[in-house]
Amino acid sequence: MARIYLHPLPVRIWHWINAVTCVLLFFTGIQLRYIGLIDVVSFQTAVITHNVLGFILIANFCLWLGFYLCSPRIRAYHAETNPVRYFIGAVRQTLYYSYGIFRDMPPPFRPTPYRKFNPLQAMTYQILMIILMPIQMLTGILLWNLGGFSRTVAFFGGVREINTVHVLIFVLFAFYLPAHIYLGTLGRRPSTHYREMLTGYEEEEETEKEAEVAK
Ligand code: HEM
Repeated sequence: MARIYLHPLPVRIWHWINAVTCVLLFFTGIQLRYIGLIDVVSFQTAVITHNVLGFILIANFCLWLGFYLCSPRIRAYHAETNPVRYFIGAVRQTLYYSYGIFRDMPPPFRPTPYRKFNPLQAMTYQILMIILMPIQMLTGILLWNLGGFSRTVAFFGGVREINTVHVLIFVLFAFYLPAHIYLGTLGRRPSTHYREMLTGYEEEEETEKEAEVAK
């Protein structure tokens, strides 16, 4: 069976460090924001852990950005400029996720190294990586040192405004993560996309002919 190299090593390293830090940031964030809801560690430990994880996330994001800026694979993050083509692709993918997949229909999109995201993934990952993650990191840095960045904080409207943006993006992540983990199970087998993010290789979808031979 042909195998396509979809996720280079830096992307895989970035992804799994990012996943672990995001989950830990999420729980320490809940402890900081909703005092009393989760008291796994002391408040002071939660603050320090959240700050350290935040800087790990930022350094890791630089790895991701640096890799893609130096690689032609950045084309995977280029936006589809033809709105009609984008719309048709997005509708097809939505129909597949909501109906076709339960009827064993073939997926409407085949990834390649330079075009590895279906229209729904492309839009989600662009918004996430190019807009939400940078805003979350920037607001996090400002909240980490309010005194040192007092002029920048004032420029953006004050502590409450910055904190609100930081918490709103945190809420979006709370919706994104379960959806992302579920969609990750919709490969040929539930483990397929997870294995791809570990090995880097995509296994081609089985053709009808191959399926017949395998029987
Ligand atoms: C436990 C948590 C997570 C799991 C199990 C997981 C799983 C996966 C899997 C299986 C893929 C490959 C299939 C695909 O492209 O959809 C993937 C890709 C991706 N994930 Fe996650 N993920 C997790 C957390 C996150 C988080 C927290 C973020 C961002 C904040 C994220 C962002 C991405 C991005 C941007 C890609 C595409 C990467 C690329 O090829 O450039 N993931 N994830």
